[in-house]
Amino acid sequence: VRARAAADGRPGENALDRLAGLLADDLAAVNATIVARMHSPVPLIPQLAGYLVASGGKRLRPLLTLAAARLGGHGGSRAVPLAAAVEFIHTATLLHDDVVDESDLRRGQPSANEVFGNEASVLVGDFLFARAFQLMVEDGSIEVLGILSSAAAVIAEGEVLQLSAANDAATTEATYLEVVRAKTAALFAAAAEAGWVAAGGGREGQAALAAYGLSLGMAFQIIDDVLDYSAEEARLGKSIGDDFREGKITLPVILAIARGDGEERRFWQRTLEAGEVEAGDLDRAILLLQRHRALEESAARARLFAADAKAALAPLPRTPLATTLADVADFCVTRDH
Ligand code: IPE
Ligand code: IPE
Ligand code: MG
Ligand code: MG
Repeated sequence: VRARAAADGRPGENALDRLAGLLADDLAAVNATIVARMHSPVPLIPQLAGYLVASGGKRLRPLLTLAAARLGGHGGSRAVPLAAAVEFIHTATLLHDDVVDESDLRRGQPSANEVFGNEASVLVGDFLFARAFQLMVEDGSIEVLGILSSAAAVIAEGEVLQLSAANDAATTEATYLEVVRAKTAALFAAAAEAGWVAAGGGREGQAALAAYGLSLGMAFQIIDDVLDYSAEEARLGKSIGDDFREGKITLPVILAIARGDGEERRFWQRTLEAGEVEAGDLDRAILLLQRHRALEESAARARLFAADAKAALAPLPRTPLATTLADVADFCVTRDH
């Protein structure tokens, strides 16, 4: 119903809904492929994967693959399984990420690790990764396999780099941006690039879509890190303050630490570095972020990346689909979920 309304271009619909509307048939096929291919004779696999899949998700990455394939001159047959592979990679990283982050809420429901336990979440995540590779091999393009398998390796590197930087209040903005590029932007870039390559598009467009995806992913994750301190929990579908409790050094915190006085620095050291978080500390952290305008400034950085994403689309013909992709960059920095 939502996709149909979006196809009509109903006013008030956001750019992501419009994109889903333009690609409604392909997206329905992707969702059907996801359900079909998460099947396994081991019942816990479809149970756990189905639990997460049924809880929704924006399907932003597979939409990038579908859109890029259309822009490259081909829809449907090849793009659909590749887009499903992209969402499987994303879903696998979420399962693993929620274990690592000890998150208890995902897509508005208790996370899979809460419901099924850490062991099952990690193992089913592994299954989904493997399934994604099967789908890519079935596609048969070594080039596409190369793009997406590199992204899968880079995501893991990003999560490990983040783990290494956690609880270190001296983490630089450069390290933070490298984490974001690896754990999030790389898959956005690969999702878009793979769709275009599968459609047989040329080199200039390939570079354009990869650059678009990379900047979009940077913007998306920086906003995610802002929302971790500022969103409405019910709307976000994830717990507020996860990053703080986990001692994650994200951009808002980096900016606030740099601007804080000695007493504030001791607060960040106790909470983020030593992990001694008491009742009221999250509220104080949010207060300090506000005092130093750290959330606004982080959002402003995200808007710069969104502008880069739009600019990257310049070599592509200005079709309604390309225009919607440009609008999706705005959605990523104005989103509340
Ligand atoms: C969550 O991604 C992980 C991040 C990169 C922040 P999404 O916000 O796209 O997750 P879903 O798929 O819509 O739930
Ligand atoms: C998201 O990291 C990136 C991956 C899942 C690889 P986060 O930990 O910031 O994302 P959320 O907040 O759990 O969705
Ligand atoms: Mg997380
Ligand atoms: Mg987060």
